[in-house]
Amino acid sequence: MKASVYLNYGEPEVLNIAEVTRPIPKHNEVLIRVYASTVTAADIMMRKGKPAIGRLYLGLLKPKRTILGFEFAGEIVEIGNGVTTFAVGDRVFGGTTALGCYAEYVCVSAEDVIATMPDNTTFEEASPVSGSAITVMNFLQGKANIKKTDNVLVYGASGGVGSYAVQIAKWFGAEVTAVCGTSNQAMVRSLGADFVIDYTKEDFTQSGKRYDIIFDTVGKTSFSHCKRSLTSTGIYLSTVLSFPLLLQMMWTALFGGKKAITSSTGMLPAKERLRYLLQIKELLQTGKIVTVIGTRYTLSQMPEAHRYVEKGHKKGNLVITIA
Ligand SMILES: NC(=O)c1ccc[n+]([C@@H]2O[C@H](COP(=O)([O-])OP(=O)(O)OC[C@H]3O[C@@H](n4cnc5c(N)ncnc54)[C@H](OP(=O)(O)O)[C@@H]3O)[C@@H](O)[C@H]2O)c1
Repeated sequence: MKASVYLNYGEPEVLNIAEVTRPIPKHNEVLIRVYASTVTAADIMMRKGKPAIGRLYLGLLKPKRTILGFEFAGEIVEIGNGVTTFAVGDRVFGGTTALGCYAEYVCVSAEDVIATMPDNTTFEEASPVSGSAITVMNFLQGKANIKKTDNVLVYGASGGVGSYAVQIAKWFGAEVTAVCGTSNQAMVRSLGADFVIDYTKEDFTQSGKRYDIIFDTVGKTSFSHCKRSLTSTGIYLSTVLSFPLLLQMMWTALFGGKKAITSSTGMLPAKERLRYLLQIKELLQTGKIVTVIGTRYTLSQMPEAHRYVEKGHKKGNLVITIA
């Protein structure tokens, strides 16, 4: 089978198309013909092997798993003897921390974050869900316990996480203010945002408006900067971990009032991520949310795809189409 393989950490050029052996499903695994995968900020970090602490999992000097890609949408073509929950021919989507999705086929444990796809979505639309959309559920529902009376600001609203965050916060019934750049204003408004602010022209913290939740989906603002725009019990959420944020999280957890919170969705137990995946499946199935696809690349264009994501201005999700 064809796969995008990397043998060393480094620049996008380390990703090369190669012919590799098709994996064989173990007792509790399914073999999936992958039709779509994604490139996200997490893939960039894994390709680079940075931050270095990640190498404890990925391999100290060079990658142990030579095929990246943790999100997939595709069709089951073979199942292990112990698999009872899926069948050959099932259209499935999800994510696997075992990686390997930058390939025509991948083996995934039937107990991993995997479910049958909503009937109304394409493989491309289903592929980014297990990273971006699950993250939104983890933060808004799991960490901030969002309510329909909440006033929510989504910072970085045009990105992969942000474009789902606007829609999911609206689905929870919240009033949503979205912050994004000039070229994405119309797109973000079409996702249901009540108010849209252009971060290149206006600093939202200067308006005097207070929010119950400020969800920084791109780690480009900070708790200190947003604090005065939070209500007295408001929550600042950030998807991007930093040392100051960690200290603020510990400090605000001890003392009442405004809170700073971060979380690593990928570290949640698979069962919890699967519960979020099934929630998102329902939202897609009933047309409550859609996947925004900004760009499509093929498996052989992987270096270009990585270069594009690395620039930090991805619109919605970047999908790798594997025909
Ligand atoms: N903790 C977790 O569980 C978790 C899970 C998933 C992702 N993440 C992290 O979340 C981050 C976002 O992921 P993503 O896939 O959504 O990223 P992304 O799609 O690459 O984000 C790109 C977006 O960021 C916006 N942006 C760039 N600079 C900005 C600025 N200064 N102010 C406001 N917006 C700005 C861009 O808008 P413009 O083009 O208009 O500038 C673009 O739409 C990544 O760092 C990722 O590692 C964390």
